Amino acid sequence: MSDAATVLERCARLGEVSEEPGRLTRRFGTEAMRRANELVGGWMHEAGLAPREDAIGNLIGGRGRPPALALGSHLDSVRDAGRYDGPLGVLVALAVAERMPDAALEVIAFADEEGLRFGTTYLGSGAMAGRPTAVDARDADGVRLGDILPGDPATARRDPAELLGYCEVHIEQGPVLERRGVPVGVVTGITGQSHAELAFAGEAGHAGTVPMDARRDALVAAAEFVLAVEAAADGGLVATVGRLAVEPGARNVIPARATLSLDLRHADDAVRRAAAAALRERAGELAGARGVALDWRETGDSPAVPMDARLSDALAAAAGGDVLRLPSGAGHDAAMMASITPAAMLFVRCRGGISHNPAESVEAGDVAVAIDVLERFVRSR
Ligand code: HGY
Ligand code: MN
Ligand code: MN
Repeated sequence: MSDAATVLERCARLGEVSEEPGRLTRRFGTEAMRRANELVGGWMHEAGLAPREDAIGNLIGGRGRPPALALGSHLDSVRDAGRYDGPLGVLVALAVAERMPDAALEVIAFADEEGLRFGTTYLGSGAMAGRPTAVDARDADGVRLGDILPGDPATARRDPAELLGYCEVHIEQGPVLERRGVPVGVVTGITGQSHAELAFAGEAGHAGTVPMDARRDALVAAAEFVLAVEAAADGGLVATVGRLAVEPGARNVIPARATLSLDLRHADDAVRRAAAAALRERAGELAGARGVALDWRETGDSPAVPMDARLSDALAAAAGGDVLRLPSGAGHDAAMMASITPAAMLFVRCRGGISHNPAESVEAGDVAVAIDVLERFVRSR
C-alpha cells in the first residue's frame, strides 16, 4: 500500500472513533479522544517513536535527542466533522517519520484545537506554548475543565530549546488551491479571531394574548443582531453566528431568552477588534430598542500570526519553489507554536474547499505530494 493510501486508510479508521453513532464528533477529554490517542500512539510506536501524553492530553511521539523538528496537527474535531481536519496533518507527519527511521523528530497530536467542548481554542497547543489554561471553563454539562486534566497544564509548556521548528500539514478548508489547480500551498499567516457568547433576555409570554407592541421578544432582538453581523462582514472581515438557542423554546411562548455565539476573523487585528466593538454597541442598541437585556461575554481574542519566513521558504523550496503562497482564514495550532518556535504550514487541496462537514475529502495524489514535500523539507533541516 502506498504511503498516501496508508494515510487515507488511517484517517478512515480514526474517522470511526467518535462520541456519537453515525457521525464524527471527538471533543477534548472524552473517551473518544482517549481511543484516538491510543490508536495513533500505537502507530507512533510502530514507527519507532516513543509516544507520551503531556499534562493537557497532547500526544507526543519523539525520537532522538532534542532539539528536533516537530510535525503535527490536532486530533479533536468539530461536531459532525470531516475526517481530515487535523488527523491528515498528524498522519502525514507520521508517514514522514516512517520514511526516515533514523531521523530525530517529533510527531505531535494536539488534544484540542477546535474548542468544541469548553468554548476555548488551542487548549492543547496553547498549553504547550505556555499560555494559561482556562481551568474554570465549564462544558454544557457543567464539568469544569480543571477537574478533568491529567496533570497541571502549566507543566505541558515546552522549552523552546527542545525545538528546531514546527511544521503543520492541513487541508486548506477553502477553495483557492482547487481553483488554481494545484495540490499544495504554503501558508503566509493565520488570521486573527474574536469570539463572544451573547445572551438576549426578554420576557416569556403567551403567544396568543400579548399584543405585538407589548412584547420583549429575545429571539427577534437576536435575529436582528444576526443580520447586523452579516452586514458587518466586508473588506476581508468574515463573521459568523454558528450557534443560537432559544428558551423556553415552545411554539406558543414568546421567547424569553436567546443565546448565540459570535466568530469574527480578519488578517488585521485592529480591523477585527474595531468590528467586534461596533457589533457589541449595535447589539446593545437592538436590545435596548426592544426592552431586552444583553449580556456579552468575550470568550476569545487570538491575534493574527505570520508564519516564519525562513522556514516557509524552506518548505516552499521542498515544494518545488514556485509554490502558491496563501493566508489561512482558519485557525491552526501553528498559531500557538509560532510563539515558542519558528512555524510553517503546508495546505493540501480539498474538494470544493469543504470542511467542518462530513463531506470533507482529499485526493490520494495530493496527499502523496504533501508527504513528499514534508519529507524533502525535513531532510533539508
Ligand atoms: O475555527 C477554526 O478556524 C479552526 O477550525 N478551529
Ligand atoms: Mn477545524
Ligand atoms: Mn484544523
